[in-house]
Amino acid sequence: MEILAISGSAREASTNTALLRFMKDLTPEGVELSVFHRLDVLPVFSPDSEGEATPRVVSEFLEKLSATDGIIISSPEYVRSIPGGLKNAIDWMVSRFEIIGKPVALVHASHRGDDMLNSLRLVLSTVSDNFLEDLFLRIPLIGKSPEEIEELLREPQHESEISSFWCNFIEAVHQSR
Ligand SMILES: Cc1cc2nc3c(=O)[nH]c(=O)nc-3n(C[C@H](O)[C@H](O)[C@H](O)COP(=O)(O)O)c2cc1C
Repeated sequence: MEILAISGSAREASTNTALLRFMKDLTPEGVELSVFHRLDVLPVFSPDSEGEATPRVVSEFLEKLSATDGIIISSPEYVRSIPGGLKNAIDWMVSRFEIIGKPVALVHASHRGDDMLNSLRLVLSTVSDNFLEDLFLRIPLIGKSPEEIEELLREPQHESEISSFWCNFIEAVHQSR
C-alpha cells in the first residue's frame, strides 16, 4: 500500500514536514509512506496549462497522486488561511481523476491554525469524494528544534496517537478498494 503525505510547508525546518517524516517510522507493515514537501516547485495553476500543456513538474506531481492509495496532508496556517502553494496544488487536482475515491485525511503540527483547517476542510470536502473529516491527528510542534520534536514524538502518548491514526486511515483505504 502506497500513501502520499503532502506538507503544506516548503520550509526546510518545517514542523509539519517533520511530523509527516516521523509518521513514516510508525507505518504499519506493508505500508509505504512518501513525503512530498516541495509544493513550491509547482507553477501557478491556470486552466490554459491543463491537458497537453500541463508542465512536466506538475505531471510528475500528478503521477505521484495517481500511484498512491491514500493522501495525508499536514499544513501550516498562513495569514489565517491555506498556504498558497497548497491551494495551488489542490487547484491542479480539481478537474482531474487522480484523487477520486482515495481517502484524504489531515494531520497538523500546531495548536493554532483553526481558520486554515476549517478552510482546508471545506476545500477538501469539495474536491474529494472521500475526505475523512472525522479522522484528524494534531501534535503541536511549533517552535521546537528537530531534537525536541523527535523526543516529543517518541513519547508513548504521541506514538499511540500516531498508531491509532494509521490504523483508522489504513482501514479507510481498505474500504475504498
Ligand atoms: C507568511 C506566514 C503567515 C503566517 N500566518 C499565520 C497565521 O495566520 N496564524 C498562525 O497561527 N500562524 C501563522 N504563521 C505561523 C505558521 O503557521 C507556523 O509557524 C507554523 O507552525 C509553520 O509551519 P512549518 O513549521 O511546517 O513551516 C504564519 C507564518 C508565515 C511564514
